[in-house]
Amino acid sequence: MNHLKVERDGRVVTVRLHRPHVLNALSGELLTELLGVLRPLDADPETGCFVVTGSEKVFAAGADIKEMAGKSAVDMMAEDYFAPWEKFADLRTPKIAAVNGPALGGGCELAMMCDLVVAGESAVFGQPEIRLGVIPGIGGTQRLTRLIGRAKALDLILTGRTMDAREAGSCGLVSRVVPDDRVLPEALDAAATIAAYGRPAVRAARECVDMALETGLRDGIRFERRVFHALFATADQREGMTAFLEKRPPRFDGS
Ligand code: HXC
Repeated sequence: MNHLKVERDGRVVTVRLHRPHVLNALSGELLTELLGVLRPLDADPETGCFVVTGSEKVFAAGADIKEMAGKSAVDMMAEDYFAPWEKFADLRTPKIAAVNGPALGGGCELAMMCDLVVAGESAVFGQPEIRLGVIPGIGGTQRLTRLIGRAKALDLILTGRTMDAREAGSCGLVSRVVPDDRVLPEALDAAATIAAYGRPAVRAARECVDMALETGLRDGIRFERRVFHALFATADQREGMTAFLEKRPPRFDGS
């Protein structure tokens, strides 16, 4: 692997973006590596959570501008450029973005594809594509608008300005803002917590929350209720409730 560093600690897998000479710009090759690593792990019952991070200085400065600069519209359409990024979003294992420094363009979009975003106080978020004569292309216009609302999304996308971690936290882009040196420990801690819960319930919770962004309230509530009902077919539901009644910690096995 050329552009990633991968570590496993029990049920938590950490992927570090590693293209330091271009501030972790997200090339096609990096994406191929990322999916090549994460997709098999996503299917592995021993995987409980992913943490995606960059360096202490930068999360990712966006899609690789050098790679796409010379392409034509026909190239873009023929390749359906950026389409495979949705495969990252579709991974069913929870993903935590641990962000230090800039998360710009595709970097911000990558963070938004994650389920939790833990940001350091000096992290910076933005969709500066307008400065390049284009627009966000990895879901930015859609996810950012759903997450922070139209007014704020257009403020960022039309002006190309960045926002700091505090602002990103207050508008709902970021789950937790912590001191810079606490970003990875905090993300790993949250990942270990999530990974210890029953896999069916964790996956169901993600799916239901994401459904809230895709559907109306009535359908979403019915979906949630049916998924809730279905979890009563799992051993983890029996174990979780029995353990509570027996006043002992549960031992979830993901079945
Ligand atoms: C390719 C990049 C890059 C990128 C930085 N580099 N960002 N290469 N793609 N997205 C390279 C620079 O060319 C430079 O290479 C090296 O990384 C260091 O960058 P500097 O600009 O010298 O660093 P600095 O002055 O610290 O500025 C940091 C920065 C700036 C503010 C993050 O690099 C920047 O604005 N980057 C672009 C951010 C951006 O526009 N992102 C959106 C991309 S488009 P050399 O060889 O000179 O050392 C996108 C979605 C596309 O994500 C959707 C449209 C279809």
